[in-house]
Amino acid sequence: MGVKFIKVSVCYFVIGVCLGMYMSMTENFNFTPVHVHINLLGWTAMTLAGLIYVAFPQAAETTLAKVHFWLHNIALPVMMISLALLVSGNESAGPGVATGGTLMVLGIILFAINILKNVKAN
Ligand code: HEM
Ligand code: HEM
Repeated sequence: MGVKFIKVSVCYFVIGVCLGMYMSMTENFNFTPVHVHINLLGWTAMTLAGLIYVAFPQAAETTLAKVHFWLHNIALPVMMISLALLVSGNESAGPGVATGGTLMVLGIILFAINILKNVKAN
């Protein structure tokens, strides 16, 4: 799970900085919340989860880790694509943002439970 999180996170890093560059070049800052959450939930949070799982492999092998990985990786594209549509004026994308956001929060709660239960001093 550690390596998977780290590999997915660098893909979001590339997408996040490309979007940042696009926003700077076009001076279109409507996409700031999309840029922010791709970088912070996609790159930063996933890299940290990956590094924690590399440091504590016993926490990486649990069902909680797998469920968090899939919830995070299903929720983020749903949330980001819907948010991009919403900030482009597509009001009907609101429920997509809410669904993605809720799944993301659920995944992060499971991640926290996994860390609290299964990360022990080596
Ligand atoms: C080449 C890389 C990047 C470029 C060109 C870039 C560009 C931008 C731009 C144009 C904005 C909007 C500024 C505004 O609305 O006034 C912004 C905001 C932001 N970026 Fe980036 N960004 C980059 C990388 C990153 C990374 C790696 C992160 C986080 C890990 C990040 C986090 C943020 C945050 C949190 C904001 C919102 C700041 C605020 O609320 O004032 N950015 N970025
Ligand atoms: C499911 C998780 C999350 C949800 C539902 C969420 C939701 C939101 C919302 C509704 C806003 C206001 C957007 C706006 O004013 O346009 C926001 C802004 C922001 N969030 Fe999150 N957030 C989440 C996770 C995070 C995480 C994990 C981080 C940091 C590690 C973060 C960092 C920020 C920052 C820096 C801003 C200000 C961005 C700006 O200036 O436009 N968020 N978030």
